[in-house]
Amino acid sequence: MRVTIRDFHSRDFETLWRIDQQCFAPGISYSRPELAAYMRASGSFTLVAESQETENTEPPADSAPRAIIGFLVGHANRRGAAHIITIDVLPKARRSGIGSRLLSAAEERLRAAHCSTVQLETAVDNTSALTFYKRHNYSLLRTIPRYYPGGLDAFVLEKNLLSSASDR
Ligand SMILES: CC(C)(COP(=O)(O)OP(=O)(O)OC[C@H]1O[C@@H](n2cnc3c(N)ncnc32)[C@H](O)[C@@H]1OP(=O)(O)O)[C@@H](O)C(=O)NCCC(=O)NCCS
Repeated sequence: MRVTIRDFHSRDFETLWRIDQQCFAPGISYSRPELAAYMRASGSFTLVAESQETENTEPPADSAPRAIIGFLVGHANRRGAAHIITIDVLPKARRSGIGSRLLSAAEERLRAAHCSTVQLETAVDNTSALTFYKRHNYSLLRTIPRYYPGGLDAFVLEKNLLSSASDR
């Protein structure tokens, strides 16, 4: 399987929303209007991970079917501060480096936009994500009590983009 990271096309939206529904519990996953608003905001960008079956040919034939298996929404403001809004990889595609490729591509884009730090929120009980971000050199900045519906706290994690290049 060959995986490429590319920019979002508007025709991808419904697929991305459905992936978000699979990746997060109801209440934490976004409604369509919420996801659309984050993606459309000034300074936002969306990266998509797309797989293509290689079968017996490498590179795969152009006609080989493509499928979106993950995405990331990032945001950079004019003061050089950046945010990872969400990163979602389909359960069947996890632990094969897709999340890392999306995150590294986003960090490269943010460095190119002269962002010095990037922050994100994740639920305090999301151990997979916490291990993933630790692996990518994110550090705990603070806790936001009752950030998520149902009263779940969030950790705010931060990474200095200037002192770290790619992690892999
Ligand atoms: C978090 C997430 C994006 C990781 O994506 P992924 O494609 O599986 O990540 P990678 O394969 O690049 O993992 C890189 C490293 O992170 C760590 N990691 C990732 N998932 C892990 C898990 N479930 N348990 C322990 N460590 C994990 C490992 O160190 C892994 O390296 P390894 O596989 O060589 O051991 C994915 O699990 C996901 O979409 N989760 C649901 C949505 C979510 O929680 N998003 C983050 C909060 S915004």
